[in-house]
Amino acid sequence: MIKGNVFVSGASRGIGKNIAIHFAKNNYKVVGTSRNEFKLDDDLENFIPIKLDVTSRDDIKNCFNKLKSLDLLPNILINNAGITSDQIFLRMKDDDWDNVIETNLTGTYNLSKVFIKNMVKNRNGRIINISSVSGLMGNPGQVNYASSKSGLNGFTKSLAKEVGSRNITVNSVAPGFIDTDMTSFLDSQARLDVIKNIPLGRFGHVDDISKVVMFLASDNASYITGQIISVDGGLLMY
Ligand SMILES: NC(=O)c1ccc[n+]([C@@H]2O[C@H](COP(=O)([O-])OP(=O)(O)OC[C@H]3O[C@@H](n4cnc5c(N)ncnc54)[C@H](OP(=O)(O)O)[C@@H]3O)[C@@H](O)[C@H]2O)c1
Repeated sequence: MIKGNVFVSGASRGIGKNIAIHFAKNNYKVVGTSRNEFKLDDDLENFIPIKLDVTSRDDIKNCFNKLKSLDLLPNILINNAGITSDQIFLRMKDDDWDNVIETNLTGTYNLSKVFIKNMVKNRNGRIINISSVSGLMGNPGQVNYASSKSGLNGFTKSLAKEVGSRNITVNSVAPGFIDTDMTSFLDSQARLDVIKNIPLGRFGHVDDISKVVMFLASDNASYITGQIISVDGGLLMY
């Protein structure tokens, strides 16, 4: 039996792909997107790939109409698509700033705005935003990225306060350093330097994130909202 409809932005690789696979293998109907045509290696019958740029409101409107006609509007929305464009602030180009904010923060706004209406109507919904430890502690070279993720955290808390009465929870997961394409630019010395500051002594695996996302989407997390949950091996402690 299908347990629910899930929408994962940025599902062609990395964390989003792993989240999509977890849900699809656990009997959810999953729609996953990326800017390019893609398909997942595993032949998952519950997974539908869609080409969609989260910065394009036209793409999102077309996708909404398609999913509505297929009765696949999500009750679980995972805002995962994200990019970096690292540069020290003095050298940061306007495009580095605009593209990162537009994708990571405005992209989340665009998808949530369109898909939340059906959740409100059904009085049932989960929105899970993939933030970053960078938005909580800052990181040199990431003024744009940290701002976008910090903005996501404010988005999460404010929206959680607005829609709690409609039985919709809104939470963020803040990964630390996870092994994906996004962190593949780090050479072995840079990795060792990072690991020195991680009490659990390793980079995270994509499964580490998916398990927390699955929990937040489940009934077990029905009384958790407006939270920023760090999954970073202890890199940041409050
Ligand atoms: N890896 C880490 O250490 C880490 C740490 C903290 C937070 N995060 C966050 O976790 C999320 C996933 O990161 P990741 O490491 O899995 O990155 P990744 O491997 O680079 O994958 C990013 C995904 O987002 C998609 N994407 C990018 N821009 C998009 C757009 N405008 N519209 C639609 N899809 C788009 C990409 O597909 P296309 O390029 O084909 O569009 C891809 O599927 C991001 O929000 C990232 O900021 C990652």
